[in-house]
Amino acid sequence: MQRVLFVCLGNICRSPLAEGVMRHMVQEQGLDGRIEVDSAGTGAWHVGEAPDPRSREVAVRNGVSLEGQAARKVDPADFRDFDRVLAMDQSNLHELQVLAPGNSPAAVQLLRDFDPAGKGDVPDPYYGGEGGFDRVYEMVERSCRALLAELSS
Ligand code: 4NP
Repeated sequence: MQRVLFVCLGNICRSPLAEGVMRHMVQEQGLDGRIEVDSAGTGAWHVGEAPDPRSREVAVRNGVSLEGQAARKVDPADFRDFDRVLAMDQSNLHELQVLAPGNSPAAVQLLRDFDPAGKGDVPDPYYGGEGGFDRVYEMVERSCRALLAELSS
């Protein structure tokens, strides 16, 4: 079993989308039971909330469901319970490096390290326009596809 945790700031826009997209791909490829997926935020403002309606909308439009998700904050135990912790941007990555226990076995890196179109941040779409969520979706989709290819090889 390989466990993957996606992390952004609020756990209501980007990382829920990554969780939903990855879970969808895992099911599509019959890899349930081999790869487990979750998401969390470095901030606690939205704990318990469902994903942002704009993330839910772009997900549904692409055949992906975010139903059943509720925001939670990253916990130190996550670095023990997950093999890979994937940050959406540099700021999330820095926060995770501060939070990670000294002997953490988890691999902590940027999600877009896997993006075949180029590395970088998945930009925070929270205060931006609608198009931001489509761009986020595309980055997440490309990166998750490549990540899953690596995990399942
Ligand atoms: P996320 O987006 O990190 O992709 O979930 C955000 C959601 C909420 C806030 C910031 C970013 N906020 O400041 O409340």
